[in-house]
Amino acid sequence: MCGIIGAASSRNVGKLLIQGLHKMEYRGYDSAGIALHQKDHVTRLRALGKVQALEDLMIEHKPKSKLGIAHTRWATHGKPSEANAHPHASSEQIYIVHNGIIENYKELTKKLKDSGYQFASQTDSELIAHLIHHHYKNNDLLCAMQLAIKELEGAYAIAAVDLNHKDQLVIARYKSPLLIGVGIEENFAASDPLALAQLTSDFVFLEDGDTAVVKKDSYEIFDAKSKSVNREVTHLDIETSSVTKGEFSHFMEKEIFEQPQSASNTLESRLGSNDVLDNIFGLGSSEIFSETKRIQFVACGTSLHAGKVGRFWFEEIAGIPCYVDFASEYRYRNPLVEDGTLFVTISQSGETADTLAALRYAKDKDYLSTLSICNVPTSSLARESDHVLFTNAGPEIGVASTKAFTTQLVSLLLLSMSIAKSQDKNPIMREAITKELKDLPAAINASLDTKTAIQKITPAIAEKNNALFLGRGIFFPIVQEGALKLKEISYIHAEAYPAGELKHGPLALVDDSIPIVALSPENDLTEKLISNLEEVKARGGTLYVFGEGQDQFTIDSGSYIGMPKCNKFIAPIIYTIPLQILAYYVACHRGTDLDQPRNLAKSVTVESVSYTHLTLPTKA
Ligand code: G6P
Repeated sequence: MCGIIGAASSRNVGKLLIQGLHKMEYRGYDSAGIALHQKDHVTRLRALGKVQALEDLMIEHKPKSKLGIAHTRWATHGKPSEANAHPHASSEQIYIVHNGIIENYKELTKKLKDSGYQFASQTDSELIAHLIHHHYKNNDLLCAMQLAIKELEGAYAIAAVDLNHKDQLVIARYKSPLLIGVGIEENFAASDPLALAQLTSDFVFLEDGDTAVVKKDSYEIFDAKSKSVNREVTHLDIETSSVTKGEFSHFMEKEIFEQPQSASNTLESRLGSNDVLDNIFGLGSSEIFSETKRIQFVACGTSLHAGKVGRFWFEEIAGIPCYVDFASEYRYRNPLVEDGTLFVTISQSGETADTLAALRYAKDKDYLSTLSICNVPTSSLARESDHVLFTNAGPEIGVASTKAFTTQLVSLLLLSMSIAKSQDKNPIMREAITKELKDLPAAINASLDTKTAIQKITPAIAEKNNALFLGRGIFFPIVQEGALKLKEISYIHAEAYPAGELKHGPLALVDDSIPIVALSPENDLTEKLISNLEEVKARGGTLYVFGEGQDQFTIDSGSYIGMPKCNKFIAPIIYTIPLQILAYYVACHRGTDLDQPRNLAKSVTVESVSYTHLTLPTKA
C-alpha cells in the first residue's frame, strides 16, 4: 500500500508534493516523508502520523527545490516510526520511495548486509535504495534501477532520485499502480492521477516491468526489456471539487449525501424507456451474457457485501446461480469452474491486491470471460478485465465506503438485467426494475431524511461497546455492511446475523446492554422477522428498527424509525442509507477520526505482511 509522488519542474515542488500526498492519504497515513534535491545535497524530512505533520515540518524548514519525491505510508514491514518512514536512503546518494511489498526481502537484505550496507529501518523498502546504489555506475541511475528491479520479487512502484542529477527522477512499476503526469515545463509521477488533479489532466499509465526517466521538459519510458517505448497519453478531467469537503464536516458525510447524484450518474446512458440498454458492459458483452450459466463474484470488504446482495438479484432476475468469495481466500483453494461461468470482480479502487491477484489467477482457469464493476477507470482491474462497467460514483475519499457501495448495487442490478435480457428472461420484471431505478435518486433523497430521527438515537448507541445487526434475505448482507460501517469508524464491535439464526446462539448475548439494529422492510419475510424481534423483546433487548408501515409493532425499549415506502428491487439500496448515517453519527459522538480510522486504508494494494518477515518469540 502507500502513495508515492515525484516532481521535476522549473518551480519549487515542495508544496505540490505535499498537496499530492494529502490527496493520497486514502492509501495510508501512518507516516509521511519527502526528499528534495538541493544541488550539493538532498534534504530529507520525515514525520510520524499524517501528512499534516510533514507539512508542519516543511513550514518550519522551508526547503526549496525543483526536484523531489514524497510518500505517505501504510505500515506493512516495520511499525509506524520515523525511521521506517520513506524516503529511504543509501549512502546519502540514492533516495527512493516505494509502494508494494518485496517478497524476497530476506535474501536481498542478507546479500546487501554481507557486502557492507547498513540498514536504518525494519522495512522491506530500504533494500531497494541499497540495491540501486550497489548497481550505480557511471552516473547512470536508470541503468542501476533496471538492474535492481531484475532482482526484486513482489510488487513495486518506485521513484528514485540521486545526488548527481538535480533534474531527473527515475521510476519503475510492477504490479503496483504508477503513472506519469504530463505538465508544461514540469512532469510528475504518482500512484494515482487524483494526486496530480490540480497540476495536469494528461496522464501516461506505466505497464508492468516499465521504467522511465522523468525530467521537467521530457520523459522517456522503457519496457521490461529496457527498450524505449511509447505509451498512450490519457486525458482525464478530474473534478477538483470532488476532493474537497465543501460545506460538510467529513468526506464520509459529504459522500453519504451525494448518493442521489452518484446513483443517477451510474444510471446515466444505461437505461432505455423499458429496459437496460445493450452492450453497456462493452462491445460483445451481450454475446457473453447469452452464454452465461453462472457467476463467480470475488471482492473484498464492502465490495464483497455488494456481491452478496447481487446474488439474490441474479437468482431472481437472471435465473442463474452465483457464488460469492472473499478475494483473499479464493485463490488459495482450487475452485472448480463449471462451464459457462462468468468471473466478476467488484472493487471501488480497482487496485485491491487480493482482488487483482484473484483476477490474474482466474485468467488461467476456464472462465467464460472476466468482468469488473469498478469506480476507477484507469485502475489495473479495469484495464485487465475483458469487460467493465464503471460505477461513476466520483472520487470516494472517506475510508468507509458509502456511495461506492450503493453505486455497485445499482451496477449489479444493471448486470443482472443485462444477462436476463441477453437470455430473453423476465421482460415484465425488467420493465418494473427500469421504472424503480428511474425513481431511485428521489427514493435515496427521501431516505436521507431519516437523519434527524437517527441523531436522536445515536448517544445511546455510542456509549455501548457492542451491537447486533439483524436482517433477513437480501437484507442480511445489507446489515453486514451496516455492522462493518459501525466497526470501521466508531470502533464498536458489531456483528450481523440473519434474524432467523438468532435462536441458534446469539440470543444468549441479548440483554438490556446490547443495542440491536434491525431492518424490517415490507416483504414476504416481514412477519417472520417481526416474530424474531419479539424473541428479542421478550429478553429485554433494546431494539432500533428501521421499517415501513408496521405500526402494530411496538417497542418497549429502543425506537422504531419509519422509512419511506419503497419498491422491492431498490429497497436494499434505500435501507443501506440509514445504516451509513447511524454509523456516521455514532462515530461523530465518540469523536473518532472517522474519515481516516485507525489501522485502515482506503485502498489496500498489498496482500499482507509475510509471515517470514515477522520476528517470533523464541521458546524459553
Ligand atoms: C479496504 C477499504 C474498504 C474496502 C476494501 C475493498 O479494506 O478500507 O472500505 O471495501 O478495501 O476495496 P475495493 O477498492 O476493492 O472496493
